[in-house]
Amino acid sequence: MTGPPTPPSILSGSVPRHVAIIMDGNGRWAADRGLPRYEGHRAGMKAVRQAVEGAVEAGVSILTLFAFSTENWQRPEEEVMALMTLLKLYAEKEREDLCQRGVAVRVLGNLDRMDAETLNAVQAIETATREGDRLLLNLMISYSGREELLRVMRKVAERVSRGELSPEAIDEAEVERHLYTQGLPDPDLLVRTSGEFRISNFLLWQLAYTEIHISPVLWPNFTRDDLFEAIRDYQRRERRFGRVSSAPV
Ligand code: FPP
Repeated sequence: MTGPPTPPSILSGSVPRHVAIIMDGNGRWAADRGLPRYEGHRAGMKAVRQAVEGAVEAGVSILTLFAFSTENWQRPEEEVMALMTLLKLYAEKEREDLCQRGVAVRVLGNLDRMDAETLNAVQAIETATREGDRLLLNLMISYSGREELLRVMRKVAERVSRGELSPEAIDEAEVERHLYTQGLPDPDLLVRTSGEFRISNFLLWQLAYTEIHISPVLWPNFTRDDLFEAIRDYQRRERRFGRVSSAPV
C-alpha cells in the first residue's frame, strides 16, 4: 500500500516566494544522444512539468521560466519554429492540468513577432488559468533584460516629455511600474541548469539581490528533487541585501 507522498524536507525552512529558472542544456542533452536539438527542447517540456509540480508542492508562489530569449530569434528558423510549436503544444496540452493544480499562467515578453496560432494558444491559457491561486507561472518569451529596460526607459521618457514627471522624481518604483514583472516581488532564488555561470540577459533589474544556484543537471533531466535541492541550498544562505550580518560576530 502506498501512503501519502512525504512532504519535502525543505518545508521546515523558509521557502523562496519567487523562483526564477534559466532552463539551459537542451541542445547538449540532445547531442549526447545523437538527436536533433528539437528533441532536447521536447524533453525540456517534461522538465517544465516537474518544475511546476515541485514549485506547487514546495509552496513557492511565483515561478518564472526563461523559455525563449530575444536572442533566440537568431537561431536557425527550423529551431525557432520547433520552439514555437512546443509552446503552442504546451499551452494546449497542459491547460486543464494547470487549472486543476491552481496554476495561473502569464506569458511575458515582446510578443510582436510571435505567429498568430502560438499567440492565440498562449492567450487562451492565460485566460483559462486566470483564477489559479496556488502558483503564478511566468513564461518569459521573446524576452531579454536589456530590451525590457529600454522599454522602461522609453516609457519613463515619454512621461517626462509629456510633463507628467520630472527627471528628479524618477525612482525605483517608477522603473518597476513599467517592467513586465510589474507588481511582483523580485526573485529570491535564481536557478540555472547545465553548470553555466551566466545570467544571459535575464531579469537584469530584478536579480539585484537574488541568490543564485547553479545546477550541473542538463534541463531535460531536471526533476522536482533538483528544485528541492536548489531550495535547500537557498535555505543555507544568509541574505543581507547589502547590509551587515544580523548574527553576532
Ligand atoms: C536552452 O537550451 C533552452 C531554450 C533556448 C529553450 C527552453 C525551452 C524549453 C525548456 C521547452 C519549452 C518550454 C516551455 C515553457 C513549454 P539550449 O538550446 O541553449 O541548450 P544548449 O546550451 O545545450 O545548446
